[in-house]
Amino acid sequence: MTDGKVLFTCHGCGAAVDATRALPFRCPRAGAPGDDADHLLVPADLEGAYPGGGEAHPFLRYRALLSPYRLARASGLPDAAWFELVGALDEALVRVDGRGFRVTPLTRQPALARATGIAGELWVKDETGNVSGSHKARHLMAVMLYLRVLEAARLPAGEGLRRRRLAIASCGNAALAAAVVARAADWPLEVFIPTDASAAVVRRLAELGAAVTVCERRPAEAGDPCFLRFREAVGAGALPFGVQGPENGLAVEGGRTLAFELVDGLRAAGASPGDLFVQVGGGALASALGAGFAVAARLGALLRAPRLVAVQTEGCAPLARAWERLGATPLAEAARARSRFMWAWETTPHSIAHGILDDETYDWWEIAGAMRATSGAPLVVGEDVLTRAHELARNHTGISVSATGTAGLAGALAARPSGDALVIFSGVERP
Ligand SMILES: Cc1ncc(COP(=O)(O)O)c(C=O)c1O
Repeated sequence: MTDGKVLFTCHGCGAAVDATRALPFRCPRAGAPGDDADHLLVPADLEGAYPGGGEAHPFLRYRALLSPYRLARASGLPDAAWFELVGALDEALVRVDGRGFRVTPLTRQPALARATGIAGELWVKDETGNVSGSHKARHLMAVMLYLRVLEAARLPAGEGLRRRRLAIASCGNAALAAAVVARAADWPLEVFIPTDASAAVVRRLAELGAAVTVCERRPAEAGDPCFLRFREAVGAGALPFGVQGPENGLAVEGGRTLAFELVDGLRAAGASPGDLFVQVGGGALASALGAGFAVAARLGALLRAPRLVAVQTEGCAPLARAWERLGATPLAEAARARSRFMWAWETTPHSIAHGILDDETYDWWEIAGAMRATSGAPLVVGEDVLTRAHELARNHTGISVSATGTAGLAGALAARPSGDALVIFSGVERP
C-alpha cells in the first residue's frame, strides 16, 4: 500500500493497477495484438509481522495478509467493518451451504503413510469439509470480499458494480464454489458448462440460482467453447469469477489462506515436512500455496517452504512439458515468451482425476518459480497410481475425498519420499 493505493503489479509485463480505481482482475495489457507475455496481477509484497491471532475464520485470522483487507483499511474502513463484511457473508454461507469458513483439519495419518510407503510422517490437510466441499471457495471468497469492500468504501472501482453479473467457465468444484459464494452474496452468476457436464452438478448449480449456459463446440472454432463464451461475457461487462489467475489474480490470493493455515498448523505441531505434493490442473492451487509459503517465510513464520512437487496425470501434463522446455531459462525471460512454454494440450485427456485435466496450466509461471525456489519439480503419474492412491486414502483415513483430491497423494505414492510429506485432500467425493 502506498499513499492510500493498493497496488497490484503484473508479473509478466510490469503493468500496475491501483485496486481503488480499477478492478485488479485481468492485466490491462493482456491480449494486445502480438502480445506473448504471461500476465498475472500480483498484490504488492507485505512487510510486518506474521499474524498471530487465534480467530477460527481464515479470512479474519489472516486479514492483514490479504489485499481486500488492506484496501478496506487504506480506504478508511475500520477493522470492525471487515469483521462485519466477513461475518455477514459467513452467515449467508451457512444458510446456503450449511457451513461457513473455518480453519480446516490438518492431521498426521500414520496408517496411510505406512500403506503409501512413506518413511516419515504424512500430513493431510482436509479441505473436503470446506465451503462447497473443496478449497475452491477460498479463491472466490477473496474476490467477493474485494467487491464488498469497493461497495462499502464507495471506491471509484466499484462504480456500477451491481449491474454486472459474475461469470465462470467450469463444471466442477470451482463452479459449485462460485455458485455458493455468489448465492450467499446475492449476486447473479452465469456458469458456462460443456455438453457432458455431470447432471448432479448442473442440478445443484440450478438450485443455487446460477444461470447455466451449455456451450456447444462451434465448427471452425479452436479452443474450449466454455472458456470462449466466458471471455465473451466478460467482454460484455461480466465480472470474472473463476479460479484462473490470469483472468483474476485476486482469486489466487484467496488460496494463500490455505498455506497460512498450514504454516500455523505445522508450527503448532512442531512439524516441517520436506515435501508438499499438490495436484495441479489450472494451477491456481499450487500457485497460491507457493506464494503463501513464500510470504510466511519472508515474514519469519517458517524457516523454509517445503519442496513443491506439482502432480499431473499422464493424460494431461502441460506443466511438466513447460518445465522441461524451461530448463535453465531465466524466469523473467519466460514471462515474456509464454507461448514457448505453455499451450493447450493437443489430445482430449481422460483420467479418474478429471478435475485436473485443464488443457493449460494457466498459472504455470508462478508454480515454476515456486518449484525453482524450493528445489521442487513436476511429477507425472499414471492411472494405476491415481487409482491406488484414491483407494488407500479412503481405506486408511475415512475421509470421503475424490480421486482428483487424492492426486497429490498419488505423487507421494510414486515418489516415496524419505522424509515427512504433506498433501491436500480437496473435493469431497460426489455421487
Ligand atoms: C479437488 C481439486 N483439487 C485440486 C484441483 C486443482 O486446482 P487447480 O485447477 O487450481 O490446479 C482441483 C481443480 O478443479 C480440484 O477440484
